[in-house]
Amino acid sequence: MIFSEEHIRQQAVVDSLASVVETNLKFLAPLETRWWPAKFFRFLEGSPEEMYAGMREQRRQAEGLSDELLVVLVGNAITEDALANYALRLGVTTSGIDRIGVSDNPWMKWARGWLAEEHLHGIALTRYLLLTGRVDMQAVDRTTTTLIQNGFEQDPSPYVGLFYPTFQEKATNIAHDRVGIMARNAGAITLADICTKIKADEHRHGLVYLHIAQALFETDEDHAMIEFGRLMQEGLKMPSQRMTDTEHPKPPVLYGRFARVSTRIGVYTPEDYAGILTHLNTELGIAGRSVSGEAARAQEFLCAQPEIIQREWNLQKEIRDARPARQTKFSWIYSRAV
Ligand SMILES: [Fe+2]
Ligand SMILES: [Fe+2]
Repeated sequence: MIFSEEHIRQQAVVDSLASVVETNLKFLAPLETRWWPAKFFRFLEGSPEEMYAGMREQRRQAEGLSDELLVVLVGNAITEDALANYALRLGVTTSGIDRIGVSDNPWMKWARGWLAEEHLHGIALTRYLLLTGRVDMQAVDRTTTTLIQNGFEQDPSPYVGLFYPTFQEKATNIAHDRVGIMARNAGAITLADICTKIKADEHRHGLVYLHIAQALFETDEDHAMIEFGRLMQEGLKMPSQRMTDTEHPKPPVLYGRFARVSTRIGVYTPEDYAGILTHLNTELGIAGRSVSGEAARAQEFLCAQPEIIQREWNLQKEIRDARPARQTKFSWIYSRAV
């Protein structure tokens, strides 16, 4: 691949932020104190009686979960499982592609530590899904496999590659939080507790990327503004956009249907999208920066956008409320429609 001059320049700026990444490695949870998925499923390792009692208890708890919430949970779990795709991305964000796989460059240490934590999220959620007895796990495995095979379309800009997870970690923090609240209300305490743990991890990840994004603005304000504006203008492509299932073999149809359910039950909505942008605008000091030309246009867009999204969302409320929900069959729940 031949990179443009601007791309190589951005990579060099990103490389120069290695010391910022180094000081943020403390946000990875120490092994001694971190939570482990296995903690939630200890009964599986007990006597047959303990195992069956634990399994019965999990099935009982899961009875309260709606099919809609299950679909959203499956989509979230698949997204976590396919995050390895995003790791490939860090290779073009920095110029320090790790040729030997064990580089102690802070960027690579962060990439590995971050992925290791995301991996645990996938493990915790898929183990839980299996125990509900309400999900077609073969269909779930199939979607995870197709998602990893199909890839993850991204903007090649190194800066966009860093603003993207800054936004996404906040979005996953919200989504896991909401699923956790809904699970608790439905009596699925184990799932609620798992979501609480995952949510806290996403918060830490979000902080690290936010600190990196702030450093990027301090180092190269104009281009940081232009690239952040461009990311938001083009709209975020979600990590699970290219997943498929037997009911929806062509991407991004399945993702669109999943996102619709997620919005319908209030796990993640355009209102949240606008809220995250407002939050990032504040944290990155977007409005107060004196920039000109293309950067000023990006700044104007970023500042105006949350209100535009919110207004549009409010305007559509009546239409949404009046329209009957469109039903979709998901292979993940044995082709039941939600
Ligand atoms: Fe995660
Ligand atoms: Fe995360």
